[in-house]
This record gives sequence, C-alpha cells and structure tokens, in this order.
Amino acid sequence: MTSSTDASESFQIPIEAAEFYESAFVPAFFAQWAPILCEAAGVASGQTVLDVACGTGIVARTAADLVEPDGRVVGLDLNEAMLTVARRVRPEIDWRQGDVAELPFPDDSFDTVLCQMALMFFPDRANAVQELGRVASAGGSVAVLVPSRLDAQAAFAPFVAMAAGHAGPEAMSLLSTYFVCGDLDELSSLVSGAGLQVATSGSHVGTYRAPSIDAFVTTEVESTPLRQRISDAVYQRIRGEAHDVLGPFTAPDGSVEAPFECNVVVARR
Ligand SMILES: C[S@@+](CC[C@H](N)C(=O)[O-])C[C@H]1O[C@@H](n2cnc3c(N)ncnc32)[C@H](O)[C@@H]1O
Repeated sequence: MTSSTDASESFQIPIEAAEFYESAFVPAFFAQWAPILCEAAGVASGQTVLDVACGTGIVARTAADLVEPDGRVVGLDLNEAMLTVARRVRPEIDWRQGDVAELPFPDDSFDTVLCQMALMFFPDRANAVQELGRVASAGGSVAVLVPSRLDAQAAFAPFVAMAAGHAGPEAMSLLSTYFVCGDLDELSSLVSGAGLQVATSGSHVGTYRAPSIDAFVTTEVESTPLRQRISDAVYQRIRGEAHDVLGPFTAPDGSVEAPFECNVVVARR
C-alpha cells in the first residue's frame, strides 16, 4: 500500500459530515476567504485555475465565476465525500480526487494554483508547496491562505489557554492544529524554499461565527480527539468557563462572532 493510499483512506469522512460542512461551516466561516484569496492571486477571465484541497469547493466556485467565459477550473481533494457535495453544488466544474503529495497533473498545467485552509493538515508541507509550484505554469501564481498564529487570535487564544488549563498541555496541541502554519515569515520561507518568488504576503481579519458558545465548544472539542481523552467533568468545566472567555465575542442573540486572522502568501513561479 502506498503512503498516498494510506492518507486517502484515513482522511475519508461520511457524506453527512461533508454536507454539514457545506451547509453550516462554509457560509459561517470558509466562504469569506475565497474572494480574498482569488483577488490576492489575481484570478481573472480566461485563466486556468487549480484549487487544491478544495473541500466542497467554495474557492473553485468563486474562481469559476471570475474566469468565465473562457477559463477553466479544477478542484482537487483527498476526500470523496467532499467532492460528492462539490459535484452536487456545481456539476460543471472539473472535480478530481487526489493527494497534494502527488498532484495528478503534468508540470506547467495551470495559470493559478490556490490552496485555502489546508496546508496545516499536510504531513509534508515542503513537498506540498513544491507540488503546487510544479503544476503552475512559468510566470503563473501560487497562493496559499492559512490561519495566523494562535497568539494572533483574540478569541481562540484565550479559549485554547483555558481548555489547556483544565485538560493539560495535550489540549493545547490538539486545539492548535489550525494555527500551526500561522507564522507569516515561516510561511514565506516555506514558499521561497520551494523555488517560488514571494510576490505579496499579508494578514486579513475576518469573522468566525458559531450559533452559540455551546456550539463553538462542541465544534472545537468534538472535532478533535480531545473529547475522548478528557472526563465528562473536565469537559463540563471547559464548557462552563467558555462562557466567561467567549462572552466578549457574543452578539445579543447569543451567537459567537469572533475575530479570526488569516495569512495569505502569493508567489510567482
Ligand atoms: C478545512 S478543509 C478546507 C477546504 C476548502 N479549501 C475550503 O476552504 O472550504 C481542508 C481540506 O483539505 C483536504 N485535504 C487534507 N489533506 C489533503 C491532501 N493530502 N491532499 C488533498 N486534500 C487534502 C481535506 O479533505 C479537506 O477537504
């Protein structure tokens, strides 16, 4: 069995989870970044664009609207369920199953290669960025968007610190996965280390929305192995104290509206 088969098999999620991602998390969080990434990368009419780790396809859909009428967009993801939803929502886009570790395209295939909110999940990030560059055409663009460091996140930083105070340092690492590529200088070095020329780099502040503080905690704790590793009593303490920590980020209707910072690096091949 190859390593990419291992990755493909271990990363599969049920279709219900992919549908929930599209109906809940895309509008609440992921959709806002797609126009920022496409604009930073200069996606324009007539281009060929690859969206790597496309999920249910919000970036590919945004790019498709920008490249029409003569452009072409391909969305690629490891996860078949994500692609099933992507195909249902926008059947005319070319959706492909594949691993960033070995992109199934020849060298020089795309004017622009985009990757939103996924680099932190790749086991070999240096190889992944090289692959993004390999399939970009000479003079083409590679643009990557990731969450900034945890200490730049006004709501997540105190929440993770509080959870780690109750559940120990393991909670810190389990709840910090999203932020591990968050240092802008390190991200720029990773990109230039792949032989690409960094054209622009910068930060953008958006909003992380959740229907309630309880929903925020459920998503953050239960989407990681942390829930299985803590007792009910510890989980209840985290849930209770979350109301103090996240109170300042709560709207009058009880929903959470927390600032969330992301970094964007655009490079030329
Ligand atoms: C948080 S989602 C982001 C999806 C999408 N870019 C968006 O902004 O909505 C991360 C995605 O990375 C994909 N992914 C993780 N590892 C991958 C890999 N090695 N190759 C391709 N896709 C991968 C997952 O299947 C998932 O759809």
